[in-house]
Amino acid sequence: MTAQILNGRAIARELRNDIAAEVANWGSQGFRLPGLAVILVGNDPASEVYVRGKRKDCDEVGFHSIVQHLSENVTQEDLEARILDLNADSSIDGVLVQTPLPEHIDEHRIIDLIAPAKDVDGFHAYNIGRLAIRRPTFRSATPRGVMMLLDHIGLEYKGLDAAVIGASNHVGRPMGLELLLAGASVTTVHKFTRNAPEKVRLADIVVSAVGKPGLVSADWIKPGAVVIDVGITRGENNKLHGDVQFDAVSEVASWITPVPGGVGPMTRVALLENTLLAAKVNQGIKLS
Ligand code: GUN
Repeated sequence: MTAQILNGRAIARELRNDIAAEVANWGSQGFRLPGLAVILVGNDPASEVYVRGKRKDCDEVGFHSIVQHLSENVTQEDLEARILDLNADSSIDGVLVQTPLPEHIDEHRIIDLIAPAKDVDGFHAYNIGRLAIRRPTFRSATPRGVMMLLDHIGLEYKGLDAAVIGASNHVGRPMGLELLLAGASVTTVHKFTRNAPEKVRLADIVVSAVGKPGLVSADWIKPGAVVIDVGITRGENNKLHGDVQFDAVSEVASWITPVPGGVGPMTRVALLENTLLAAKVNQGIKLS
């Protein structure tokens, strides 16, 4: 079997067009345009690229966006004060603090402080909790983006087995909750798991979110499985690598995402969708 490629870049472009049309229609009715605020701390080149991409997406769909670029040495107090200001700013619907943050910043306290109604990353415990009890509102952007990719190929989740590799707060854990909500039976594979390849080989859907280039080889994959690679690691010459051995796994899987151009653009669309949802709620617009 040779897998079909799930082209996140193309799917994301279509979804951005839909959002742009909705926002234009909305603006013509006199509503305030959705607003996203991004806080970027320090000069991590990868984070700068991600933030530029988010800003470009906002411009493309007609959102208002601001970026606060703060020094690496910003204090916890200053960062917290800025979040409180953005929470109170009625022109801003979504507040996002780009991670990773410098070591001296307590990231948990920062995320706890973002108003759950503006948590368009879906990182706040309130929003993760809502997903866990099957009442999602702001869904974590990367897992949501993965679900949009899987929806795109018309996957019927009920009765399928899924394996999520990696158990991080921002991806692995909410990814498992998304797949469970959709009706799949989910196994999470993590650093304490025994016989990981054996467990992954049972899965119809495999999502890898570890950040270890080449971790997932063809013998981990059941023939015909759908394989989603969330891992993205910058190697020599700035080249990006996924967790999955793309060429070998393509011989076994039915669908596979490339890195780059798979999950990354979908995360950004999920962020736009969350911001649109926040703006609707803030302006009392009926949800369709
Ligand atoms: N760092 C890498 N990806 C993300 C993301 O989706 N949101 C935030 N806040 N930080 C990130």
